[in-house]
Amino acid sequence: MTTTEQDVAAPARPIGPEATANLWLHFSRMGAYRDTPPPVIVRGEGPWIYDDRGRRYLDGLAGLFVVQAGHGRRVLAEAAARQAETLAFFPLWSYAHPAAVELSQRLAAAAPGDLNRVFFTTGGGEAVETAWKAAKQYFKLTGKPGKTKVISRAVAYHGTTQGALSITGLPALKADFEPLVPGTFRVPNTNLYRAPVFADDPAAFGRWAADQIEQQILFEGPETVAAVFLEPVQNAGGCFPPPPGYFARVREICDRHDVLLVSDEVICAFGRLGTTFACDKFGYVPDMITCAKGMTSGYSPIGAMIASDRVVEPFLRGTTSFPHGYTFGGHPVSAAVAMANLDIFEEEGLNAHVLATEDAFRATLERLLDLPIVGDVRGDGFFYGIELVKDKATKETFDDAESERLLRGFLSGALFEAGLYCRADDRGDPVVQLAPPLVCGQAEFDLMEQVLRDVLTEAWTRL
Ligand SMILES: Cc1ncc(COP(=O)(O)O)c(C=O)c1O
Repeated sequence: MTTTEQDVAAPARPIGPEATANLWLHFSRMGAYRDTPPPVIVRGEGPWIYDDRGRRYLDGLAGLFVVQAGHGRRVLAEAAARQAETLAFFPLWSYAHPAAVELSQRLAAAAPGDLNRVFFTTGGGEAVETAWKAAKQYFKLTGKPGKTKVISRAVAYHGTTQGALSITGLPALKADFEPLVPGTFRVPNTNLYRAPVFADDPAAFGRWAADQIEQQILFEGPETVAAVFLEPVQNAGGCFPPPPGYFARVREICDRHDVLLVSDEVICAFGRLGTTFACDKFGYVPDMITCAKGMTSGYSPIGAMIASDRVVEPFLRGTTSFPHGYTFGGHPVSAAVAMANLDIFEEEGLNAHVLATEDAFRATLERLLDLPIVGDVRGDGFFYGIELVKDKATKETFDDAESERLLRGFLSGALFEAGLYCRADDRGDPVVQLAPPLVCGQAEFDLMEQVLRDVLTEAWTRL
């Protein structure tokens, strides 16, 4: 789709560069916005967003993997207003409020196995921090005080606070903030497209990748390792699904060495893969789940760390406490919105819709494999990465300068101008990522494919 006359709604008030001079943008080259302002999004409706010039775009990233139920849902706004009128705020520091109580019951009921205890945060990075701190204290309380280290995967993103950033596997994001929290170690991820071994045998590759975790645990010493943090489908690098058998083997390895398995589902939970919790999709039960984003479809911020009965048990003894918390963790308004959002999931069958249409989404995106620049299409549910290559036969990727020219210089802007908001990313190899609201169907899949086809074809001619 290109932005056409009928897409143009009554223009809102355009915002100039001087108006955004007080705003410190996240993860942005702000120098680029000295003379022209960043895109300013003023409104959303279903899978669509509108900018300050009244132009319409398909939200191909659900904001930032967040807006599962789509934009403009009055019922979520009303749930927030009702709760704010009743009890706008109260902390969970030795007190409780009904919204957090009910939401914890609901999350525990939806979580697999005996993951029954919910620690609320305000977002994903805080949930990751919480899981690591809980793991460290758990082992101190259970007589293994040396178990403090964390293993995570290369290129994986787990957040920006110092602990979560330390777990993150992207050196370029960490360099300016070193020294970070010590004691985190990286193992290979599950990038099958660039598998260093067993590239033609996903199950063997999965065994190998899981075994790298065991190697690392043994190398560091099992008596020093507290937890392994893994996303069900790794986001950074471009949507790497787990090979068959991978998580079953990781679970065995963690059990063998008494290491806690943390499923970081900040992106993958709440329907992104068609299940409330993504570990269910791949049939494993972690010791902790971290989640956030889609819990409220973004209508109010909240996150959570959900722990198993085994993990919480020592925290329930005698005078023990977990000296950790956030003023706004489990905010009543956000908790109320989360419940209204989960009601939408049930009433509209959003998980079932994703499961019923995920194959069609994949097949639609796979049509792009006929383009010379598209090397790989991978992902799961409504969460896909399209890897761009210079040479399909050799899988040669772009060098830094080409990647800069292609992704930043052309693709991001051109896709947006063509009416598709999505993400062109080069934290690993260059990828375009798609994670639309879960209310999308074939019409939106076709639109994404068409815009990508046009813009990627143009990108290829420019190389
Ligand atoms: C897997 C994962 N963990 C943690 C985070 C951090 O979440 P937040 O930005 O809410 O702190 C993210 C954010 O995208 C994520 O994808």
